[in-house]
Amino acid sequence: MGQACPVANPGSTLITRIGELVTNDGGGWAAATDAALVIEDGTVAWTGPAARAPAADSVVDAGGRAVLPGFVDSHAHLVFAGERSAEFAARMAGRPYQAGGILTTVTATRAASDAALRANLRRLAGEMLRQGTTTFECKSGYGLTVGDEARGLAIAAEVTPEATYLGAHVVPPEFAGDVTGYVDLVRGPMLDACAPHARWIDVFCEDGAFGADEAAAVLAAGRARGLGTRIHANQLGPGPGVRVAAEAGAASADHCTYLTEADLDAIVSAPLVATLLPGAEFGTRHPYPDARRLLDAGATVALATDCNPGSSFTSSMAFCIALAVRDMRMTTQEAVWAATAGGARALRRPDVGHLGVGARADLILLDAPSHAYLAYRPGVPLIAAVWQAGRLAAGAPA
Ligand code: NIG
Ligand code: FE
Repeated sequence: MGQACPVANPGSTLITRIGELVTNDGGGWAAATDAALVIEDGTVAWTGPAARAPAADSVVDAGGRAVLPGFVDSHAHLVFAGERSAEFAARMAGRPYQAGGILTTVTATRAASDAALRANLRRLAGEMLRQGTTTFECKSGYGLTVGDEARGLAIAAEVTPEATYLGAHVVPPEFAGDVTGYVDLVRGPMLDACAPHARWIDVFCEDGAFGADEAAAVLAAGRARGLGTRIHANQLGPGPGVRVAAEAGAASADHCTYLTEADLDAIVSAPLVATLLPGAEFGTRHPYPDARRLLDAGATVALATDCNPGSSFTSSMAFCIALAVRDMRMTTQEAVWAATAGGARALRRPDVGHLGVGARADLILLDAPSHAYLAYRPGVPLIAAVWQAGRLAAGAPA
């Protein structure tokens, strides 16, 4: 159920008669028709024309359907308890989104047992896997005490190597009026307790959360502890987040909904991956980020779900692809690349997001002849089967 790398099946597997094989081989978009792929020892051993496919221990007939790299969801908040459907309904009825809603989930998360948090996380991880997500990032950020952040990250690290410490999500009520005191906790004792369980550190840089100096201090402390850096930037309005990310050498600036020309330049020249999270704009009625402007400027764009109980309670990368194509002027190829190779760039993971020889054999068999169907047939469950590190992990190929 979890997504820690499973043990590969013994022997090689040939998947043949693939109508469209998306490989992203060589870095950019790459796809072939009438193709085949061989899995061996959990990795991609061969790709090429079906007519020239080598023999293997077992054979899967794709019957003209499409095969894609597994989705890489590089931004998700999955360690939490409770839900906020009433807040969502009120927003849809016209009330604006406020960062303060996070505290509702903090209260529920603090009150939850380890077992309850673990069960909720594993349920969501299973949901993601069945929808084709083979690598996901998972943030803390709903505990906001030393003990609650550390236990959240320990639980996250059970199911993904991409655990992110987000102690700087919002200032908790017990530190109201003392942002400096809370930042000192986040970059001091809380970091000490959390760093052993995390690969990344993140901060919500926004009005109502943390300002530029505070965000920079948190990222610098994490970096000094060996954590990679990423940031929630420019989500609810213009602000300093992208600049802070560029100066910190962050892997990714996430949201990027409100960007100035200077922000755009910083993203391209740093470079930062711009991770777009259209589920959050869907769930908050903010305008979608201008993906076309980023792509035309030469930025690397990733798509992720931002799955969380407040702003974006979707675990569906296919939904995000459909939004990006329909409402953010990304082509179907750009959107699928961003949801696979783009996410891998955001997580600095060269082994996933593509199906070049040597890549981890994380792949999706679609119940459709091409990747375009992910946007062309929105809301339809098209994931027929999912392999993770060469092992059939969800669905059935037949
Ligand atoms: O990415 N921006 C900050 N954090 C989340 C929202 C979390 C929540 O509303 O609970 C986000 O949208
Ligand atoms: Fe987020």
